[in-house]
Amino acid sequence: MKLLVTGGAGYVGSVCAARLLENGHDVTVVDDLSTGHADAVPAGAEFVQADLADTAGQLLADGYDGVLHFAAKSLVGESMQDPDKYWQGNVVTSLRLLEAIREHGTPRLVFSSTAATYGEPESVPIPEDAPTRPTNTYGATKLAIDHAISSYATAHGLGATSLRYFNVAGAHGAFGERHTTETHLIPIVLQVALGLREQVQMFGDDWPTADGTCVRDYIHVTDLADAHLLALEHTRPGEHRVYNLGNGTGFSVQQVVETCREVTGHPIPAAVAPRRAGDPATLVASSDRARSELSWQPKHADLGVIVRDAWEFARGRNAG
Ligand code: UFG
Repeated sequence: MKLLVTGGAGYVGSVCAARLLENGHDVTVVDDLSTGHADAVPAGAEFVQADLADTAGQLLADGYDGVLHFAAKSLVGESMQDPDKYWQGNVVTSLRLLEAIREHGTPRLVFSSTAATYGEPESVPIPEDAPTRPTNTYGATKLAIDHAISSYATAHGLGATSLRYFNVAGAHGAFGERHTTETHLIPIVLQVALGLREQVQMFGDDWPTADGTCVRDYIHVTDLADAHLLALEHTRPGEHRVYNLGNGTGFSVQQVVETCREVTGHPIPAAVAPRRAGDPATLVASSDRARSELSWQPKHADLGVIVRDAWEFARGRNAG
């Protein structure tokens, strides 16, 4: 298929672009490089450095079989301090993209949605029909886009899939997580092991969880990318499907730090810090729907393997 990958210079977008190319697709990446890196765009993809909001119409006029829409602001903490960046950058840009899709009759869309659309769950694991009550602006903006996609699918025949990612981690060879300002737990903990930080701060130890630290469901980025390939094949005109992507097992911040100590052999000092605004206590996915409808089967569900791949990537970049 001829595919437009928005945000393909970012972490998840670059891994997915690489997997799409490996599977014989024709890939164009559009990215404004506000958080992505030009050298993360995989060889073999055409790269357009541009603001998606301004160029979506022009790009899709070329005739694409589908769009994979990764481009977004995606930090929970930042979204609470800088909501305009999220409403403008995520919602307004995505609405422009949807308009371009409608105008040019692009048949397929796979959208990066998030577990943050659910907010504090009533029960875990979280199924797709759980109430959506985001506790942070980031989740609220992604939920708004999900609603817009549903309307466009119903009214204009778009075949769309929203994939609700839980906590993505790990790396796919040379493609991994490297944010200029890192806020995600596993890369931060690994920075301590690399000697780039003195210690990790654990945001709260008084959450209603077994050890008092927040619990998350970590998914390997390669497994996540494979779900995108399956989602593309399964879109149907006029349908908007939603799938959770996680492994169904929760690990606390404390357990993640412990696993990183085991993988790296570094003592990784950790201190308790105040809670971070917008964090739910526990997010664990039920991915039964993706498993049954998409035949999705995560291959790297073990947290040790996820951390190992993230560690190899982080060490390689640090050495380079
Ligand atoms: N955490 C710390 N110390 C840190 C960094 C994070 O204790 O230095 C904690 C957070 O408070 C949270 C957990 O580690 O409890 C995971 O935090 P991340 O920032 O790594 O990830 P989030 O859970 O906040 O968010 C990620 C994605 C979202 C997605 C969400 C779904 O960034 O897009 O997972 O679970 F919605």
